[in-house]
Amino acid sequence: AIPIIIDTDPGIDDMIAISAAIHSKDLDVKLITSVGGNVGIEHTTQNALDIVNYFKKDIPVAKGVDTPLINKLATAEHVHGHNGIGNVQFMTSSQTNILEDHAVIAMKETIMNSEEPITLVPIGPLTNIALLFSLFPETKSNIKQIVLMGGSAVGGNATPLAEFNIYVDPHAAQIVFNQDIPIVMCGLDVTRETIINHDDIQTLKKLGDFGNLITDMLEVYNDVNSGEKHEHIIHDLCTIFYLLYPEMFTTERANVSVITEGQAAGCTYTEFNKEGKVEVCMHANNKQFREKFVEFVKDIHQSR
Ligand code: BDR
Ligand code: CA
Repeated sequence: AIPIIIDTDPGIDDMIAISAAIHSKDLDVKLITSVGGNVGIEHTTQNALDIVNYFKKDIPVAKGVDTPLINKLATAEHVHGHNGIGNVQFMTSSQTNILEDHAVIAMKETIMNSEEPITLVPIGPLTNIALLFSLFPETKSNIKQIVLMGGSAVGGNATPLAEFNIYVDPHAAQIVFNQDIPIVMCGLDVTRETIINHDDIQTLKKLGDFGNLITDMLEVYNDVNSGEKHEHIIHDLCTIFYLLYPEMFTTERANVSVITEGQAAGCTYTEFNKEGKVEVCMHANNKQFREKFVEFVKDIHQSR
């Protein structure tokens, strides 16, 4: 199994991505770290703990940074609900898996102690990850790659040019994109195609308490492009599916730099180039994405 660390700001699509990762036998989730983003750090940490507890797994959760390096935190309650997960309340609010260590320390320990190089999967603002590289550059030698949800070659969702995760902490994103580590960018270019629709929701509703957990959250999920079509973009799941089913995606190489100031702040300026350092996901097979989505929920339903 591929050893991964998920850095996250749950977030409805984050919760779905975490569930898929925890459930997969081909991924080994070593650590989950929280960051402020969709909502503040207290909520994102609790949501991460609650989903780990829901699956009764022994995966440690470490609380990370609440505020971006320089900017003020901009949250997205209007998309994810006041608690970040569509106002869903878990039956038991768990604290059991919380580490005392700060997320950045926990990441460093996990990476340095791993026999196999770690894949980092950031699906929120990149604040923790930037701090990791600034404080502990030695960790880079034991990181295989970063598969992140964020950015876009064309267009934004937080502003006309900026995707939310990069927009929230562009300075951190710039630090991360400047590292000499292989990066796979799953941005809006591809997540415009990682959509589930009304029929899928009806199917999910029949899949027991996990299916209902997802549809309850999605009822509130108000992604800009969802609109009246009853479609939901499951952005963060893209990273996990990229690791599990690379054949679902087409990619192009590019050099990516982050604009940190002014009206275009948060824009990932993407120049396509065969020798580019970043693998940019451009398309996903939507049919396959929907099938795999329903399949993993069904699987979880049957195994509970
Ligand atoms: C990203 O922003 C967040 O609201 C989602 O969880 C996802 O990580 C999409 O732009
Ligand atoms: Ca997220």
